[in-house]
Amino acid sequence: MKIIRAKDYKDMSRKAANIISAQVIMKPHAVLGLATGSSPVGTYSQLIDWYNKGDVDFSEVTTINLDEYRGLPREHDQSYWYFMHKNFFDSVNVQPDRIFVPDGSNPDAAEACREYDAIIQRAGGIDLQLLGIGHDGHIGFNEPGAAFELGTHCVDLTKETIEANKRFFNNDESLVPRQAYTMGIKTIMQARKVLMVASGADKAQIIKKAFFGPVTPEVPASILQMHPDFVLVGDQDALSLI
Ligand code: F6R
Repeated sequence: MKIIRAKDYKDMSRKAANIISAQVIMKPHAVLGLATGSSPVGTYSQLIDWYNKGDVDFSEVTTINLDEYRGLPREHDQSYWYFMHKNFFDSVNVQPDRIFVPDGSNPDAAEACREYDAIIQRAGGIDLQLLGIGHDGHIGFNEPGAAFELGTHCVDLTKETIEANKRFFNNDESLVPRQAYTMGIKTIMQARKVLMVASGADKAQIIKKAFFGPVTPEVPASILQMHPDFVLVGDQDALSLI
């Protein structure tokens, strides 16, 4: 485990983007595992900036996202497909046929997850997986208690997540997806490199617990202590307790 201290969100984003750029420069046809959420948005915008300056080229890259809500069509403005296009893909030259996000519109969960694992396998596995971390230590949609040995699978969202997401769905709980498709911990651990970005004082407790506490399914991210090439880039606030 390697921990890189950044001053603030901007500095964290630059450092993470540097690691991703290095990966793509060293291996232009790299397979990048990508995440949504607020943590990586700055990393994506830094990469867009360097792409515009001609410093990094994504034309041969394959991207495979971590997760997607089950039941949301791609076009829905809360889908992770939509998020990724808005925050990254629409502004760089990743080829559309090399962009993969779990198919939330496929109601057959077993088939959607099987197909996704097959996509990852056909791509030759993930070279670099970018992650954020939830306050309870979740990675992807792998909530506390999630088995370490799962590949892509369908999860029931917790009451707290449904409640927290209501604001994105006209405050109408009935519109909030109840399930999601997510890469499992096994999938994440099989990535050759894992890069986590964490920012803000509200992440300090969980960072300490996940990376300086016991490895346990109760803190899903703690398994990353066992990954042979795990890099955490955190800002001062997120790393303040370690
Ligand atoms: C995103 C994802 C989630 C987030 C986590 C942290 O695809 O799967 O695990 O990484 O919830 O979210 P933020 O970055 O918004 O704090």
